[in-house]
Amino acid sequence: MIQQDRTVPSGVKTKDKPLLRALKGEAVWPPPVWLMRQAGRYLPEFRAMREQADFITRCMTPDIAVELTLQPIRRYGMDGAILFSDILILPWAMGQDLRFEEGRGPVMTPIRSEADLARLDEGRMMEAVAPVREALRRLRVELPEETTLLGFAGSPFTVACYMVEGGSSRDFAHIRAMMQKDPALFDRLMDILTRNTAEMLCGQIEAGAEAVMLFDSWGGILPPEAFRRYVIEPTRQIVAHIRARHPDVPLIGFPRLGGVMVAEYAEKTGINALALDTVADMAKVAEMVSETVTLQGNLDPMILLNGGEALKVEARRIRDSLKGRPHVFNLGHGVIKTTPPEHVATLVETIRDV
Ligand code: CP3
Repeated sequence: MIQQDRTVPSGVKTKDKPLLRALKGEAVWPPPVWLMRQAGRYLPEFRAMREQADFITRCMTPDIAVELTLQPIRRYGMDGAILFSDILILPWAMGQDLRFEEGRGPVMTPIRSEADLARLDEGRMMEAVAPVREALRRLRVELPEETTLLGFAGSPFTVACYMVEGGSSRDFAHIRAMMQKDPALFDRLMDILTRNTAEMLCGQIEAGAEAVMLFDSWGGILPPEAFRRYVIEPTRQIVAHIRARHPDVPLIGFPRLGGVMVAEYAEKTGINALALDTVADMAKVAEMVSETVTLQGNLDPMILLNGGEALKVEARRIRDSLKGRPHVFNLGHGVIKTTPPEHVATLVETIRDV
């Protein structure tokens, strides 16, 4: 059956959702919990499906993406279900080739010139990500009624890093060279990404995502002025664009490794929730940002990997340090693939045991 592109299906549940309430600024206690990369290789049921199709096929086949999104919800009853997809689906949807290689991560043909940029086809983007919207529509029907469905995208700067470097990088030499030597070209790339990210996220919301998160994994490599121009300003534009169309949908920003710039990021972008990485001192950040901004984070994934008493102690410390403030419990970065699944169960139980 073909569904209308802009409708949330019937049968959608609208029960009170702790994560959605916390993202809208309420100090829910105990805090709701979900984990970045909660659908992943640490789960045996995920590894079993991994053999069936390559990564992009898994993202683009609604049956598979729905199943992978639901796996951690079934096991742990997380408060949030993050769509199984990837931040690099956007450049792929505009025609940049992409593959994932074992041990190397994403590999793309780099975009470094005017001619490379001209090959991007913005016109095909929304059509290419139609299966993602279909997966979201199905998830809204299949998820438990208290679970919040999260959409996401990479921030323009972080996605540009992969597009220009052609994959992961140690030093980001090519993108930094482009920023300095050909700022006009770089600005055009950022402009394409800013517009298309906003458009794609609106599409995710219209298909059923109840909140959306912007992953800015690499903005932290930039000096302050460049951080303002390439991280804060495009994020502000994306937030403004989405809010004009969907004023009630909360937005989470994750300026990873943003250091002291995270306070300015929270204030100037207008995001509802600030996700923090492992190095951030939550209590200190809480003093620096408005109480209306929800904080999300920030347990060290390595502590989750190692488990034991230290996991419980640290999880409680973070939870209790933010009591009375709107907080969403999460990691400071994604679940590590060798994490024992029982440790995740222990973490969720610990957070909910008050
Ligand atoms: O969090 C979730 O469970 C939802 C899905 C999700 C994935 N990637 C699935 C994925 C999300 C939100 C992402 C975000 C993402 N992707 C980021 C931002 C967060 C961060 O980690 O800093 C970045 C930088 C990417 C790009 C990316 N995708 C890289 C560098 C890699 C290779 C490294 C790795 O961990 O394998 C990926 C692949 C990827 N994305 C996998 C998954 C589950 C592993 C693919 C596999 O199954 O082999």
